[in-house]
Amino acid sequence: MKAIIAGTGIEEIINKDFRTYSTEYGDVDAAIDGGIIYILRHKSGHTMAPHLINYRANAKFLEDMEVTHAITTHAVGSITERLLPTGIGIASDFIDFTNGRASSFYDGVDRPLESFAMNDVFDDELRFQVIRASVERGLRISPQLTYITTNGPRLESKAEIRAFRNWGADVVGMTMNPEVNLIHELKIKLCSILFSINWAAGLDEEGISFIEGESRKKLVRTVLDIAIDALSEV
Ligand code: HPA
Repeated sequence: MKAIIAGTGIEEIINKDFRTYSTEYGDVDAAIDGGIIYILRHKSGHTMAPHLINYRANAKFLEDMEVTHAITTHAVGSITERLLPTGIGIASDFIDFTNGRASSFYDGVDRPLESFAMNDVFDDELRFQVIRASVERGLRISPQLTYITTNGPRLESKAEIRAFRNWGADVVGMTMNPEVNLIHELKIKLCSILFSINWAAGLDEEGISFIEGESRKKLVRTVLDIAIDALSEV
């Protein structure tokens, strides 16, 4: 089984039979179709704020369903020119700037205490397939981006974005951690596709404006098509 964990907007775009499934860590809203599990990261109706998402339940559901390969998709804000708004890219590393989120299965409570390496979270073969699927659609994608996860739900200050840029972050979002570290702990092969919907705070003279409406829908649809295509080849 393969899986896609996706964010805002996918429920309207992929017209599937979403249901609530339960796991040891809580409920997950997902649809299962054609060998792919589609998980609504923010639950049905986008009700769960990024800092309140049950990341462990979503990841545990992948383990319960014997998922071997997963793609996570994330809307982000652009910090560097390596990913411009409307652009699509792939994460190669992250900075976890969150707090208070349950970020491990192996914390000595349910499973033995273990410190996992985080230098090989993303899978090369899946990444190659995402690049192939993009190129076949005539899209240039940015193959190597560093994502910083902020806690949200507020957006960042201008000074925070300047600091994050100095730390080496290319894009900012609120959902990569602990999602990818949890999936990595479960030894599931993973690729994270990012799409930018705005310049981060302080980088656009006119303030923060998000790509919305039909252009946003089209971007989400393209990212999903790439993910489904990539998963079909692994
Ligand atoms: N900041 C944090 N998360 C985001 C942004 C942003 O600018 N854009 C999309 N997700």
